[in-house]
Amino acid sequence: MAKSSLHAQRQAEQLESPEDELAIPEPFGEESGDPLEESGCTMDTSEDEIEESVAEDIQRFEESFEGINKRYRLINRVGEGTFSTVYKAEDLEYNKYENRWDIDERESRKWASPPGHRKKTNRPHYVAIKKIYVTSSPMRIFNELELLHDLKNSNSVCPLITAFRHLDQVVAVLPYCQHRDFRDYYRDMTIPEMRRYFRSLFTALHSVHEKKILHRDIKPTNFLYNTELERGVLVDFGLAEREGTDWHPCACTLTPEERRYRTTHSVWAQTQDRPSCYPKNDTRPSRRANRAGTRGFRAPEVLLKCTQQNTSIDIWSAGVILLTLLSRRFPFFHSADDIDALLEITALFGRKKMKETALLHGQVFETNIPSYTENGHSLEKIILWCTNRNTKDEVTGLKKELDDEEKEAVQFLYRLLECDPAKRITAEEALRHPFITKAYEDGEGDEDLELVDA
Ligand SMILES: Nc1ncnc2c1ncn2[C@@H]1O[C@H](COP(=O)(O)OP(=O)(O)O)[C@@H](O)[C@H]1O
Ligand SMILES: [Mg+2]
Ligand SMILES: [Zn+2]
Repeated sequence: MAKSSLHAQRQAEQLESPEDELAIPEPFGEESGDPLEESGCTMDTSEDEIEESVAEDIQRFEESFEGINKRYRLINRVGEGTFSTVYKAEDLEYNKYENRWDIDERESRKWASPPGHRKKTNRPHYVAIKKIYVTSSPMRIFNELELLHDLKNSNSVCPLITAFRHLDQVVAVLPYCQHRDFRDYYRDMTIPEMRRYFRSLFTALHSVHEKKILHRDIKPTNFLYNTELERGVLVDFGLAEREGTDWHPCACTLTPEERRYRTTHSVWAQTQDRPSCYPKNDTRPSRRANRAGTRGFRAPEVLLKCTQQNTSIDIWSAGVILLTLLSRRFPFFHSADDIDALLEITALFGRKKMKETALLHGQVFETNIPSYTENGHSLEKIILWCTNRNTKDEVTGLKKELDDEEKEAVQFLYRLLECDPAKRITAEEALRHPFITKAYEDGEGDEDLELVDA
């Protein structure tokens, strides 16, 4: 029986099979993997210890994709997402090409002998081969490859080296990025480590947003973070899009006065004095908007079908990651569907905030569930609850509090989990926030990171 070489056992995602994806009636409702069932790769993947089923899978892949084993030696399966399987492989033709993508090589050259005196190294060079499921639509595959190509000069986006097609199978080749499975460290990350994690994540988001691209699926498994180098790269642009694609006017882009006028003259406002009622034969077309993403990480405006979503949806998702780290709960939100997800956010922020947020996008939010309070709970309180500090201190008899560093992290968190996308902090602003700038004061590892011109 072959041993498993991976720390955490990866599981195929059961959420939605590719068949289900095709069957989704709403073309924009693509759901990426369940964060609980997805996992990334732990730092050390030994070459000689792979599971039997993985070895069989690799063999099948090599047999079906003609010529792949001439260029790459497949070593292990390192990721299994909703839309692809990712393998670690050795690039057998590395020396035949210029390899500008190879950051490791560039780094090691800095310390090597001058050109001319340099010997060709025979050390293996690793790549990640992303086998995109054949059920993915050609448009979708093209979109991912095109956006990756556009982002090729960003240091914090895993660049596309090349791509191949054999019959209906497409593979993308990326540099292999050493990283650790989020589930191995989210419980113990210290606040200074969080500062550096988010400095790296926001540096990456800034470079993507600068190009007016929304990633749309920000979550731990799509940010490959190397905890030793304290540097991460963004992967998985399968759901990404250019800002403005399919935009239709949404009330959130009106001035507050215009919006107030519209709201007060709406049918809903005129029926406010009557108990909740709905038109019998509602002939209005249903509202459609891109809702692609991962459950638990979708911003309120995505859930509310805002028709002018912008890059700030990624900032909300980054906020969910910070909330996960501070509360030590993963996944923090775990909803069955979008309505459930809206209710989870209501449990935190209260009915009043959700009503305002819905109206912002011309929607009405109503709930008759009595347990939701009008004003919700503070994030401080939520974090104390989640970390079992909601009791009084046994010695002093005083209520337990967050420490000063945690309080500062929560101030930053409020800026990320801001329900109004126009008020939410941008990636560029986040890099100037004291929570992040203190990462530079902490010192460690800074020489590796270029300061972003924020
Ligand atoms: N360049 C890479 N280096 C190392 N591991 C990778 C790389 N790209 C992807 N992976 C692993 O494969 C997983 C799935 O890849 P991803 O691009 O997110 O595909 P999907 O669209 O199927 O979610 C990632 O979560 C990660 O664990
Ligand atoms: Mg992914
Ligand atoms: Zn809107």
